[in-house]
This record gives sequence, C-alpha cells and structure tokens, in this order.
Amino acid sequence: MPSQNAIGVFDSGLGGLSAVKEFLQLLPNEKIIYFGDTGRVPYGNRSRSTISKYAFQDTNFLLKHNVKMIVAACGTVSSVAGDDLRNNLPVPYTGVVNPTAFAAEKKTRNGKIGIIGTSATINSHSYKLRLEKLNPTLKVYEQACPLFVPLVENGFIRRDDQIVRLVIKRYLSELKEQGIDTLILGCTHYPLLRDTISDFMGDEVELVDSGFETAVYSAKILKENDLLNNDKSVKQPEFFVSDTPDDFKNVAGLFLGRDMEHTVTQIDIEKY
Ligand code: DGL
Repeated sequence: MPSQNAIGVFDSGLGGLSAVKEFLQLLPNEKIIYFGDTGRVPYGNRSRSTISKYAFQDTNFLLKHNVKMIVAACGTVSSVAGDDLRNNLPVPYTGVVNPTAFAAEKKTRNGKIGIIGTSATINSHSYKLRLEKLNPTLKVYEQACPLFVPLVENGFIRRDDQIVRLVIKRYLSELKEQGIDTLILGCTHYPLLRDTISDFMGDEVELVDSGFETAVYSAKILKENDLLNNDKSVKQPEFFVSDTPDDFKNVAGLFLGRDMEHTVTQIDIEKY
C-alpha cells in the first residue's frame, strides 16, 4: 500500500470533523478523505444491524479511493460495528473507543470516570467494558445524551445558549454527583459543546476528546505499519456527503475551527 494514499475518515454526519480538525493539525502532510453520511444522520438511535450495514457502505466508499487506513470518527459505529470492521477491512482500522478509553484510564486520579454518548454507544457499554478491562478497579458511570447530536447538527453550540445549558444540566447532574474526575466525550459531536459541558462539570473534571485521542493513535498505527507519508507538502482534505452540501459548508467551519474553502461532493451512498 503506497504511503502517499489518503486516510479515510467517516462519521454519520458532521461530528467526525472534530477528529479531522485534529488530523489536520497533527498530520498536515497526510491527505484526508472524509465521508459524512449527512443523508442518514443520526445513527445513534438505530439498530445494530442498520448501523453495521451503514458502516460497511461508508467504508466501501472510502476503499474505492484506495485509502491506506480507515478511521471511524464516530462513537456509535466504533461501539456497535468496530470489531466487524477491524476483522474485515483490508487496511488498518481504528475507531474512537480504544484510544479514548486508554487516554482516560491514564488521566483519572480518583478512578471515577464518566462516559457520555449516543443511546447506541451507551447501550453497547463499549467504553465501560474497555475501561474495566484496562483497570478492573475503576468506577465507570454512563449516560446517554440523545439530544446533543441534533443540537450540534443544528448549530446550537454557543457557550451561553440557555437551551444547551438546560439540556446539559439535565443529562450530567447525576455524573457530577458521583464525583467523577474524568469525563469521556464519547461522541465526536460533543467537542462542540465542550466549553458549556466544562462550565457545568467544573475545572476539576478533565474532559477527554475522542477525536483528539483517535488522531494521536492513528499516527501511531501509521508509523508502526510504515505508512506515514514521506512527502512533506501540506495536503488539502476532500469532503463527501450523502445529502445536499449546502448546510455542510455552513456548519463544517465550526467543527474544523476554520473557514471551509474546500469543495464538498454529494454521493449516493446506497450504491456502495
Ligand atoms: N458522531 C456520532 C458519534 O460519535 C454521532 C452520532 C449519531 O449519528 O447519532 O456517535
């Protein structure tokens, strides 16, 4: 596999762009091809078989671009279909669960870790099982936050937004009472609510961003497989979506933390 080939990153929608932001910073000379399944988002309240079918269509699309590695920048896909993908893809694969659980286990000081994610992610107990395997003495608390993704996809991300604050209070009060010192943002949409979540949880609770940890881990896998791009020029990412690109362009800049100057192409994902 030529090391100049792109890294394929995908998510159910825009959330995975929070991971792309980290990839662009960490590995600027790697070409990123991103697919956001904006026509079928959200995945988080769908069945295991549907999420798995979608995940394989998404990866088939990326493989058509001869990607050298695939990253499921989606907590839901990683939790529900991660093992199937890892065992069946012809290229190295990572989801977000393993790298993020690993980082959280290193960070906690009092051994109490909270996890927030979509309903599918929390019902799978993927992060909890992984953490308990890493360290059986940990106390792990889980909370599904199904309203976070629609809020973010609709641009409700201002730190002082009263609706966002209320929803955060409703979902996170119990975790706060448990005295956790580490909170995993187990869905790649959640970094967009990071400041407001932190305001509620307080400075003593460290937030672990699955996008960042996954980018760091992906760099490690590429290095181990001798797949890091030797061509040092800065590459521009390419974006594909399954619904109209108009909204994507508007909201994507918020995730990437920069203006979206790149082209976005709409594709028919059902063909893959
Ligand atoms: N970004 C996806 C995740 O990490 C989200 C959401 C969804 O499609 O429900 O779980």
